[in-house]
Amino acid sequence: MGASISNDEIAALVQPDRVHKRVYTDPGIFDLEMERIWGNAWIFIGHESQVKSPGDFFTTTIGKQPVIVTRHSDNRIYVLYNRCAHKGAQLTVAPCGHAQQLRCAYHGYVFDTAGALVHIPRGDGYRDSSFNRDNPMTGIRRVARVEVYRGFIFASQARQGPDLASWLGPAITSIDNAVDRSPTGELEITGGTLRYMHDANWKILLENVSDNMHPAVTHQSAWQPAKQAAGEYPEDQKPLPLAMLEPFGSSYDFFDTIAMTTCGNGHTWSGGNATIHIGYPRESKYVRDLVAAHGEEKTDRILSQQRQNTIIYPSIAFKSALQTIRVYRPIAVDRTIQETWTFKLGGVQDDVLHTSVLYNQLIFSPFSIAGHDDYEAYHRIQHGLQTEASEWVSQHRHYGRDRRNDDGTTQAPGTSDIVFRHEFQAWKNYMISADDAD
Ligand code: FES
Ligand SMILES: [Fe+2]
Repeated sequence: MGASISNDEIAALVQPDRVHKRVYTDPGIFDLEMERIWGNAWIFIGHESQVKSPGDFFTTTIGKQPVIVTRHSDNRIYVLYNRCAHKGAQLTVAPCGHAQQLRCAYHGYVFDTAGALVHIPRGDGYRDSSFNRDNPMTGIRRVARVEVYRGFIFASQARQGPDLASWLGPAITSIDNAVDRSPTGELEITGGTLRYMHDANWKILLENVSDNMHPAVTHQSAWQPAKQAAGEYPEDQKPLPLAMLEPFGSSYDFFDTIAMTTCGNGHTWSGGNATIHIGYPRESKYVRDLVAAHGEEKTDRILSQQRQNTIIYPSIAFKSALQTIRVYRPIAVDRTIQETWTFKLGGVQDDVLHTSVLYNQLIFSPFSIAGHDDYEAYHRIQHGLQTEASEWVSQHRHYGRDRRNDDGTTQAPGTSDIVFRHEFQAWKNYMISADDAD
């Protein structure tokens, strides 16, 4: 499939301070991305709270590959391609459910929840053929590698490559921070998923997460009235929705304090000490429970780590301090589904969950007064790039001024294009195929 686009051609699309528009508009590039990025990287596919008991399952996709995620009777999690081993019918179209076995709706072949063939109607028809239980091809094929880190399930279609923790590198600390915010160390997906189809390339959505030059402009119609209304309340009595919207109109100086950190493989985070979420009131009982679980010092450390967004490239962006995540599902070169999910912190009363759900509905929902501003921007970028005006998309802001930290991460002010440049270095590394090397 990739033979028509050479390594040299791919390399030329990504320059140190700009990328060619083809990376967002060319269907051939998109097909290669599905093969070389989404077919190799560790892709976030769900959380173990979605499959609590043996027999629980849900369906999702890895790139364009439909999969079933199950918890089997051995208590392990399996990720199976959603394709019957007989003639290829999808085994289930349910978003989630509970089943001891998977029975194909076409000819009734039955598989266990680890994918092994259990029963064939009139099985003696296969006597003396190679279609028998000893032949692994008669089971449902499993995705090559699955790993769970503190409840987060990732799968990779590549048989070989770094293990999940090595691949995550320093970005793993954002998962740790999210989980450590629960006194019991548990998270649970809750509150439903908001799902929305965008007519834009997946990378445009992902870049928006780290784009601190846009909120004050794009979301002006949301933050300006909120700021006005918030002015009528004493500082400590501002309604939470206003406290959430107002910071979108912060100064560029403030956004610069939300430092951007890149940490390899396309992973990044924004913030640390400053974020647009820092002003929300915090329940004192929640803090007391955390102190009881972790002690004062560790609690301070956990709560003061204020990362605004962490991107685990290419499939999720999550807010570890707010227990919400955005999940990206590429559909076509100009079609992407974004889902937003909310986590409940184990052992914590519902007020904290309320803050997460409110943010999800107020900001991320397509029916929010902020989210659709971004959706319009994605649409305009995808369509603007169709023009013949220029071949290139700029990533020049703060180019050449990145600072390397002692731990190997790289840092820049919040309005830098450092994240976009880093994501495309990872993109290029995935996209250049060893097989095509001259
Ligand atoms: S296609 Fe599934 S049993 Fe025939
Ligand atoms: Fe936005």
